[in-house]
Amino acid sequence: MTRLIIRNGTLLDQHGTRRSDVAIEDGRITAVGPSLPRTDARELDATGCHVSPGFVDLHVHLREPGKEEAETIETGSRGAALGGFTAVVAMPNTTPPQDNVSTVEFVRAQGVRAGLCEVIPSGCITLARAGEALAPYEALSRAGVHLFTDDGSGVQNAGLMRRALEAAKPLGIVLAQHCEVASLTAGAVMHEGACCCRLGLPGWPSIAEELMVHRDLELVRLTGAPMHFLHLSTAKSVAMVRAAKAEGLPITAEATTHHFALTDELLASKDPLFKVNPPLRTPADIAAIKAGLADGTIDAIATDHAPHSAAQKQLPLAEAPPGMLGLETALALALTELDMPLQDIVAALSWKPAAIARVSERHGRAIEVSSPANLTVFDVNATWTVVPEQLASKSRNTPYAGKTLRGKVRHTVFNGGAVVVDGVAQR
Ligand code: DOR
Repeated sequence: MTRLIIRNGTLLDQHGTRRSDVAIEDGRITAVGPSLPRTDARELDATGCHVSPGFVDLHVHLREPGKEEAETIETGSRGAALGGFTAVVAMPNTTPPQDNVSTVEFVRAQGVRAGLCEVIPSGCITLARAGEALAPYEALSRAGVHLFTDDGSGVQNAGLMRRALEAAKPLGIVLAQHCEVASLTAGAVMHEGACCCRLGLPGWPSIAEELMVHRDLELVRLTGAPMHFLHLSTAKSVAMVRAAKAEGLPITAEATTHHFALTDELLASKDPLFKVNPPLRTPADIAAIKAGLADGTIDAIATDHAPHSAAQKQLPLAEAPPGMLGLETALALALTELDMPLQDIVAALSWKPAAIARVSERHGRAIEVSSPANLTVFDVNATWTVVPEQLASKSRNTPYAGKTLRGKVRHTVFNGGAVVVDGVAQR
């Protein structure tokens, strides 16, 4: 039986902030209050730190099964725990893809085996993410899958997407779209704009995202089925989602840390580290993403953690796969870049994504007696420098190497156990 006391922290949750200790036993919070009596429980010092519900990342690529040279569920889970995440949604573009119950159960079981955070498998919208036939939603839903996506690509066929939404609605599952009209992005390596023209590189126009956001908002209006929009990257996408929410459509949205922290100008280096899908965009888009997070149009901060081996990322820009690491830098980027109240930042990292992933029973819960003990202890003032070799991920493709960031996770408690203590993973 694990017993912990988190001592001297400032609790921050849906109820606001207060100075308090937290006692944990057998996976649950057993006492919350100032100066809890000392017992034989392990003490975690939280002086100068905030204690919040654990973070939940709606968007990670853990690469297992299929690309274990880039990441495994264990190494990705370790990165998640170090980033303060107690739950992550694993994207389905694995090999084999997560379009069947046995692969989904394998992913979940590997997460349990690693024991560092909850790994929540997503399911594919279409079989093999091929965009031709629907995946078996009923079986996958019975196996506990709630979010379905073809992430890595969007569902191109509008008729099929309509049928997917109609099939999803009675099951109470949620489809999450990677918005990209593929016929507009063939061969693209970066955002289509001034920088791209100057460099003479093939561009990924904003409209390729916006057309699919527009189409899917109309399909949501038609079917009444809920939908989640993945990694929004353009100002117009944010405006469309804002208007649709005002109208009452049942939609949610996320933005990644790199889409509010980095611009397309970085591609002037032609370094594949900065190639990502959707691409890094302009300062005006970044301002819109930040405004969308601040006013709640965008519900959640996600990472789109996308490890790739050095061999892959050293290919020429046109051939290198898109994607960048994100789990261990997410909190610091949010704190450094976003001009939002701390409670709103933590909401977008914790209880709002927990609700979208349908894990609010276990994650993102207010810090009170009997809540499951999934907690993050972080220091908003700690500064640190990103050293790729020191990250837990098997891959090194962080775009922040050498950057000094503010804000660091000190401890992470998962299922009542200390999986990160003083910034060090415990397993
Ligand atoms: O940059 C990206 N990388 N975007 C995606 O949609 C897929 C991901 C990956 O799997 O590497």
